Amino acid sequence: MSESQRTLRLVVSGERVSAEQIAARVAEAAALLRAGRLVAFPTETVYGLGADATNAAAVAGIFSAKGRPLNDPLIVHIAEAEAMAEVARDIPSVAWELAQRFWPGPLTLVLPLAARIPPIVTAGGATVGVRLPAHPIAQALIRAAGAPLAAPSANRFMRTSPTTAAHVLADLDGRIAAVLDGGPCAVGVESSVLDLTRAPARLLRPGGVTLERLREVIPDAQGPLERAEDTQAAGDDGEAMSADVAHSPGQMQRHYAPRTRLIVYDATDAAGRAAVLAGARRCIADGLRVGALVPDEEAATLTALGVVVERLGPGDAPAEQTRRLYAALRALDARGCDLLLAHTFAREGLGLALRDRLRRAAGGAFTMPEASEP
Ligand code: TXA
Ligand code: MG
Repeated sequence: MSESQRTLRLVVSGERVSAEQIAARVAEAAALLRAGRLVAFPTETVYGLGADATNAAAVAGIFSAKGRPLNDPLIVHIAEAEAMAEVARDIPSVAWELAQRFWPGPLTLVLPLAARIPPIVTAGGATVGVRLPAHPIAQALIRAAGAPLAAPSANRFMRTSPTTAAHVLADLDGRIAAVLDGGPCAVGVESSVLDLTRAPARLLRPGGVTLERLREVIPDAQGPLERAEDTQAAGDDGEAMSADVAHSPGQMQRHYAPRTRLIVYDATDAAGRAAVLAGARRCIADGLRVGALVPDEEAATLTALGVVVERLGPGDAPAEQTRRLYAALRALDARGCDLLLAHTFAREGLGLALRDRLRRAAGGAFTMPEASEP
């Protein structure tokens, strides 16, 4: 597509849009997909960049529009659980149980690949990630397209995932045919990716469905690997690259990244709050313009110091924090700071996904808080 061709923005939410208009716009987007074009669409997690998963040439377009390497497999999106059998084979009964319990919703199941899906979708691999999204527009689009949709998050490679149509256009305007604008995403972080092709099952990426809930169905499901080198000493600039890349190539340690350097202290709750405060004081003393991404309760003290603050939401509302995370990161990144600071979250519930995304946004590692001054 030539750069001069603007991306069509098709609004499918809001009071001024009628049901008929929504249906017509979804049909228009589906026609583009059937013609092998790329369409971004809302899901409950983040916006996806869709192509007909059965059309290898269309799927190749996803990789070039994003600048994504071909060794990173795409998730295939379906609109009915039964369609899992068209995309995957040798489906274990636990996959149907998980589907029954968590679909539609933010869970991707990794299963043996069926022949209908061309190898480019799975980066040549023998397994496929399958997901049934909860967003009604996503479901309507898949049905109208008449094919499963391969769709990664609709951002340029290594950039923060989009949770609004404006984020999609900021990265991909002119590079894709259309975006269906369904407003902000409700979950805000990507789906949990659960590998069912090995025993015990392993969570490759923590996301919208927590490990605790998955263990209600698979009690021995393993959590994602967090290695010792995930935390580096303060001042150590080295980038910890992944050892896990071979299993899930998309799980590179540096990902979801803002342009401004971000430091995420390896401390939670009161210790996290103290670490950000101490870090901000030091940076301000050095004459730096500092930004911080923190729970609401921590905002006032930092603002009073002159720190540029983006709030994540109330500390006791993790779902609100995941919902706001990427938008807050993008907003903070646009405010001309020299350095951004945050702290991590406890390893429970959605905290696991928050930790994971913050660590990647920080370049792959947390930073040890410096000992506080006497
Ligand atoms: O919530 C989501 O999952 C969003 C929305 C659009 O559905 N999609 C998304 O896609 O986040 P993407 O491509 O940005 O991330 C997919 C992740 C990558 O880390 C990829 O490596 C992993 O899933 N993945 C996909 N297929 C896989 C497979 N067969 N085996 C292992 N990992 C896989
Ligand atoms: Mg992505």
